[in-house]
Amino acid sequence: MNKKTVKDIDLQGKRVFMRVDFNVPMADGKVTDDKRIRAALPTIQYCLDHGAALLLASHLGRPKGGADSQFSLRPASEVLSALINRPVVMAPDCVGAETEALAKNLKPGDVMMLENTRFHAGEEQNDPELAKQMAALADVYVNDAFGSAHRAHASTEGIAHFLPAVSGFLMEQELEYLGRAVANPEHPYIAILGGAKISDKILVVETLAAKCDKLIIGGGMANTFLAAQGLNMQDSLVEAQSIETAKTLLAKLGDKLVLPLDAIIADQFDAQANVQTVDVDQIPAGWRMLDVGPKTVALYQTVLSGAKLVVWNGPVGVFEMPKFAEGTFALARILAESDAVTVIGGGDSASAVKKAGVASKMTHVSTGGGASLEFLEGKELPGVAALNDK
Ligand code: 3PG
Repeated sequence: MNKKTVKDIDLQGKRVFMRVDFNVPMADGKVTDDKRIRAALPTIQYCLDHGAALLLASHLGRPKGGADSQFSLRPASEVLSALINRPVVMAPDCVGAETEALAKNLKPGDVMMLENTRFHAGEEQNDPELAKQMAALADVYVNDAFGSAHRAHASTEGIAHFLPAVSGFLMEQELEYLGRAVANPEHPYIAILGGAKISDKILVVETLAAKCDKLIIGGGMANTFLAAQGLNMQDSLVEAQSIETAKTLLAKLGDKLVLPLDAIIADQFDAQANVQTVDVDQIPAGWRMLDVGPKTVALYQTVLSGAKLVVWNGPVGVFEMPKFAEGTFALARILAESDAVTVIGGGDSASAVKKAGVASKMTHVSTGGGASLEFLEGKELPGVAALNDK
């Protein structure tokens, strides 16, 4: 990475504005998955160990129109406080007189969590005024919010123009591992793409196919490819408007694409549906494909054997429902046992490896959903681009 990191600057006695992605799942006012908070700990600890006072900023959810207590970062600040074993002051806002006064009083080793940046409309508008006010709270800007790096917002991009701006370790690590997928990958390199829609993933299909040896396509997007080959997918999710695109991709990428051989089909889109296993060209009227079948899993095993690098983004079935989870979980287990470097895109694929109980066996599980997808599409992430070059 050609961007400066926290290791390239002097932090002693500095107030550090650190953008983290604490956009964590919550239920009943409690954080239900602290992965993103834990992922920021190495940079937080490094800054504290090197004499900085920390102001942590994040968004949470998508609040509309100002402050809204259900989107408060207070629960996240409490989880953080327990993890770092020191008090975390909760600021009433991310800017403003009261927050400024609290920021001025911070001493080296102190930690303050700013309130949700999206309580200000200027955050998503990347308003330079808001960015300037946030910058005025600190001496240095550190961006460790990989999960938000695809957003050009005031706290992820704008602020970097007003302070020395460097990356944290999580950002660096994410870019390093996901970077392997798009630049100089080791071979054999197998990419796996799933998820519902091909229209969301055309760019990533093209970027990954240009680099990998085989591209496994699963999930709803596989249906559209199978339909493009002339199969009757019956009630399966097929994007009619993307069939021509799928045909073009099939013609261009030829046997690089690995499509499902068999399917777990259901008579309705429901966890309690009746199910059967059939070859993909044998789906009866009224049925739909919701997972890949055992022949396909065996094919995955063959394609993935001997791989040096595997990058996976998007489940191959509706794994949220137990009857349609086995294809995705079996794939997760194959990767867990593989000697390859295994890089899991965030979002659904990260939840899938976690649910399959093998997240710790992967080389890297990204904390970014949309960010990892945009990165794999080969796009420059604004939150990274704005940081100071080495
Ligand atoms: C995410 O969860 O993908 C990031 O935190 C970005 O959230 P957003 O999609 O609401 O911008």
